Amino acid sequence: MISPASIKLVQTARRAVVSRASPVSTSLASRCCPRCGLSTVPARRRAAVVSDQTSGANYSSASPPPPSSGSSNASDAKPKRKPLTQEQKDFLSSALRVNQTGELAATLIYAAQTPLVVRQHPHLRPLMKHMYDQEVGHLNTFNKLIAKHRVRPTALYPLWSVMATGLGWSTAFMGREAAMACTEAVETEIGTHYNGQIRELIEMTQQWEEEGYEVGPELSELIQTLRRIRDEELEHLDHAVDNDAKKAEPHWLLTGVIRLGCRSAIWVSERV
Ligand SMILES: [Fe+2]
Ligand SMILES: [Fe+2]
Repeated sequence: MISPASIKLVQTARRAVVSRASPVSTSLASRCCPRCGLSTVPARRRAAVVSDQTSGANYSSASPPPPSSGSSNASDAKPKRKPLTQEQKDFLSSALRVNQTGELAATLIYAAQTPLVVRQHPHLRPLMKHMYDQEVGHLNTFNKLIAKHRVRPTALYPLWSVMATGLGWSTAFMGREAAMACTEAVETEIGTHYNGQIRELIEMTQQWEEEGYEVGPELSELIQTLRRIRDEELEHLDHAVDNDAKKAEPHWLLTGVIRLGCRSAIWVSERV
């Protein structure tokens, strides 16, 4: 059953795709949550999450100048941008679509888990709120991006909404450890997923810079945004493990099923 809060989240996400949005803030996240004071610095970054770091290329908007043509007229002074290929446009659309879907699912999972978990373990209220608030922030970010770039949201919004709420409620019903194991599994897959996108974008922009093109602020900001959100997802993963996710029974089965479900949902949402 979907709670009124969950329905409101879905409605907000839907509204975002039909309205023009204001530019997304791209500043890097504070290292301490301004609301609850919880540290946002990942203590550890577990799981098979591969680093997106490359050879230290700089992706700031202060890109190197384009190759000189020997002319000094005004048109040559403009930044030289390489148009996106259809394949690159499709990749970006698919990335924004699946990210928005994933963040909606994350907010619904936490919304469903929190009442049951907090009732049994009141000391977890600040942590659950902290993680939920960060997920709402991620969802708002992708709602704005998907509206700004006129990307079609996933057609399976209602299905993912029901499944995410069901996953959150059922794992919380199983107990705190299972709820945390759910977070561990989801964030492991999401962290890996974001890293894949970041690597792809870095390879793409690095290639442009090597060819003498300017990357431009939008893609640079998108990479920074993805890195910030990826770090916050991995912070959630650490919180889950610190709160006995590994003690869920049977941990291997629970996390295995949830991770498989996440990978399947990502695969479908990238396409549908
Ligand atoms: Fe998130
Ligand atoms: Fe998360």
